[in-house]
Amino acid sequence: MFDVSKIRQDFPMLLDESGRERELVYFDNSATSFKPREVIEAEMAYYTRFSANIHRGDYALSYEADQAYDSARQTLARFINADEREIVFTSGTTQGLNMAAYGLKSMLKEGDVILSTLAEHASNILPWFRLAEQTGAKVEFIPLDEQGRLTVENFKKALHERVRIVAVAQVTNVLGYLADIKTICALAHQAGAIVVVDGAQSVPHRKVDVRALDCDLLAFSGHKMCGPTGIGVLYGKYELLEKMEPMMLGGGANKRFNSHGDLILSRVPDRFEAGTVPIGQAVGLAKAAEYLQRIGFDAIEKQEQMLQKHLAEKLKAMDNIEFYNPESDSAICSFNVKGIFAQDAASYLSSRNIAVRSGNHCAKMLVEFLGTDATIRASMYFYNTLEEADRFAQALQGCTLENCIDIFL
Ligand code: ALA
Repeated sequence: MFDVSKIRQDFPMLLDESGRERELVYFDNSATSFKPREVIEAEMAYYTRFSANIHRGDYALSYEADQAYDSARQTLARFINADEREIVFTSGTTQGLNMAAYGLKSMLKEGDVILSTLAEHASNILPWFRLAEQTGAKVEFIPLDEQGRLTVENFKKALHERVRIVAVAQVTNVLGYLADIKTICALAHQAGAIVVVDGAQSVPHRKVDVRALDCDLLAFSGHKMCGPTGIGVLYGKYELLEKMEPMMLGGGANKRFNSHGDLILSRVPDRFEAGTVPIGQAVGLAKAAEYLQRIGFDAIEKQEQMLQKHLAEKLKAMDNIEFYNPESDSAICSFNVKGIFAQDAASYLSSRNIAVRSGNHCAKMLVEFLGTDATIRASMYFYNTLEEADRFAQALQGCTLENCIDIFL
């Protein structure tokens, strides 16, 4: 049974030293999420009980670390319904998407096309721009619909025989729209293209089954799903990972090399994890995946939908708000307070102990669609409450130019 007040007790960031709820309203969960105590403790256990490097040591502690890291990979594989050989640990979504773009270089030639959208985060467009420049391929954009969504209809129109790669977010980070990745994959595959999915804003909030979606590569971050920073996952179909070039070489990524430069790479996925890997973070991330599964994505989605609906209704009813995504599929509300610069409004909200992100949210091309380069983004997670949404809406009522000026005096 989902009980948000009980769940909030799991998160030290939501409590003060005496275990009571803090004043804080944290609505910046798309940037990063809070961590439950058991995740913090799992990572700490690595540093306090079995801190050793992995896959290199012939001593008991090292075997223990090996086992914890390998088992974390299995947990993450189960979490998205993949094979454990298809889970590459990365530092986060950004590294995963850069690894994808780097690794696919040999599969592109001049005249090929990479399809994407104007709603992408910098991490899912800049690596593709560079790849296009290096190979003579071209980036083309699938037009967004009038709300800013990627629709199957527009995708079909944009797809053609020269498209080799489709790189899109499953859920976009400013407007929070959910793309129909399953259908996009089916259509892309028929056209001979592979699909790379930015899962940073989807994997923490809904059940993602890579086999059901049939996507080729999918990247996500640990820290947005109640896990540690500095760790993420690049999922890749095994046969595709086998063909991809690793972005980094070094210890652990090679089986053998000699002074002539002959190199035999390690097997997949080890060849993509050169250097000492984030062991403690992997252990913490596995705990986060287990924690989310224990709560259940049905309950998580239900709570987030309720929060979105509630806050969206409040924002729609307010005259001073320009609201960009009232029909969002996620608990993300992006808006502006009319006549007030987004950063000033966010600073005002901060003076009321409310944390939101303002600006372009790294989705800098979206300005071409929204017609504004800065918005306020309130992004909620399953541990947020209706009372917090009410407090947020009430604070916004007081967000006038005079009150904003006051906080800077
Ligand atoms: N990618 C994160 C965001 O959208 C940081 O805020």
